[in-house]
Formats: sequence, structure tokens, C-alpha cells
Amino acid sequence: MRAPASVPWQVWALTLFPEMFPGPLGASLAGKGLERDLWRLETVDIRDFASDKHRSVDDSPFGGGPGMVMRPDVLADAIDATRDQARAALSSVPPLVCMTPRGMPLTQDRVRGFAGEPGLIVVCGRFEGIDQRVLEARDVIEVSIGDFVLSGGEPAALCLIDAIVRMLPGVIGDPDALVEESFSGGLLEYPHYTRPQAWEGREVPAVLLSGHHERIEAWRQDQAEEATRTRRPDLWQRREEASRQTRGTDR
Ligand code: ADE
Repeated sequence: MRAPASVPWQVWALTLFPEMFPGPLGASLAGKGLERDLWRLETVDIRDFASDKHRSVDDSPFGGGPGMVMRPDVLADAIDATRDQARAALSSVPPLVCMTPRGMPLTQDRVRGFAGEPGLIVVCGRFEGIDQRVLEARDVIEVSIGDFVLSGGEPAALCLIDAIVRMLPGVIGDPDALVEESFSGGLLEYPHYTRPQAWEGREVPAVLLSGHHERIEAWRQDQAEEATRTRRPDLWQRREEASRQTRGTDR
């Protein structure tokens, strides 16, 4: 986790719909963190960087095909101005990402990596896509939140920011909550139960009432492994491979 710094973690969201921010990030834990200045959010309206009288930000694709493509010149100007602002605010340039279903899949490890940086610049794509040249010219890291297509990058950016913000120091009251959760140790989380002890004829598993901490731990580990094996064979296989490799290097 990143060291406590005098400047809070800060995100710049480049979007054609600034009104979508902070959206859900203004409520609950993230919202409280924003109020308490544990993190900061700036929205940058990409359209402010359009230079023609129609303020156009998109054009039809070379080679034909449906939809419109975000222009490289307008987006590059928005990115460059934001990078200057970020450099001034943070004394360094934060990672630059673009939300797109073509991007590398977001994982908890990658979220942890972003949370260790001083901030983030996130571009929210709209239309059919973004001109490839600006992505290459500005070294943009393309990130996807899953194998499905949203109508734009904004909801994906909100997911990414939420995942990062909850890892920042002070945002979650009980930091232990970050240790035992899904994906830590490459496993899904074990199931949870609370009162009432019997509900609609269903009982809480007896082991959880035993007060026997070691047995509870072992049961939770089994449940986490079973859930991962059955629901996410891809995660399970990766974990098995990692443990085979560790055993191999131990020999
Ligand atoms: N924009 C549209 N769909 C997306 C997705 N699945 N991930 C990230 N950004 C997106």
C-alpha cells in the first residue's frame, strides 16, 4: 500500500458526460472519503478541447463501418492539459488509463497497483471507439472491467475508481476488511451468516456457533476453495499452477 502522503490520491476523469461524476462515488464509503479529503476527483470535459465551431469530438471511421470514432487531436489536447494539471498537483505524472472492452482485464492485483500510485487519469471512451494513434502516442493503458459492452467508459471508470478508493488509507474504517476478502490469496471469499440463527427453516452452519476458532478458520478455507473450484475454474487453475511452481522452486 502507498505511504501516507500530504497530497491525497487524486483522479482526473476525462469524459463527454461530466455530470455522471461523482455519481455513486458521492455516497457511502467513497463519498465519505471524498468529503474528508482522503481522495480527490476532477472531471475534465473533453468537448472543451474541441476547436471547430460545432465543438465536434468525433468523426466517421476511415475504412467505413458503423458509428463514430473519437478524434485523436481533441483527446490528445485534453490529455496533455490534464497531465500538466496532474503534474502540478502531485509533483509527478500519474498512470493514464482508458476504459474500453478491448483493454487488459481489471484484477484486484492491478487495482492494488493503481492504489499505490499518487493518482490516476482515466479516459472514458464513447462512440464506436477512440482513434488508435492517440492511444499509442500518449502510452495509454487500456483497461476492461469485463467481457461485456457498456454504452460508454463512464460506468467502468466509476467501478475502477471505487475499487481503488476503498484501498486508500482511512477510507475503510476496519483495514482487516481488506485482508480477508474475495481474491486475496487468489480465492473467492467464504460465505457469511448473521442473525437470526434459523431463518425460513435454514440453520447457520453449526461450526460457526462452536466458538472453536481453528475449526472455523478451516471450514472457511474449505468453503473458499470449494466456491473457487466450482464457480471460477480459471482462478482455481491459476492458483494450482502457482502452488505447483512454488513447490517446484522449493525442491
Ligand atoms: N466501455 C464499454 N464497455 C467497457 C468494458 N467492458 N470495460 C471497460 N470500458 C468499457
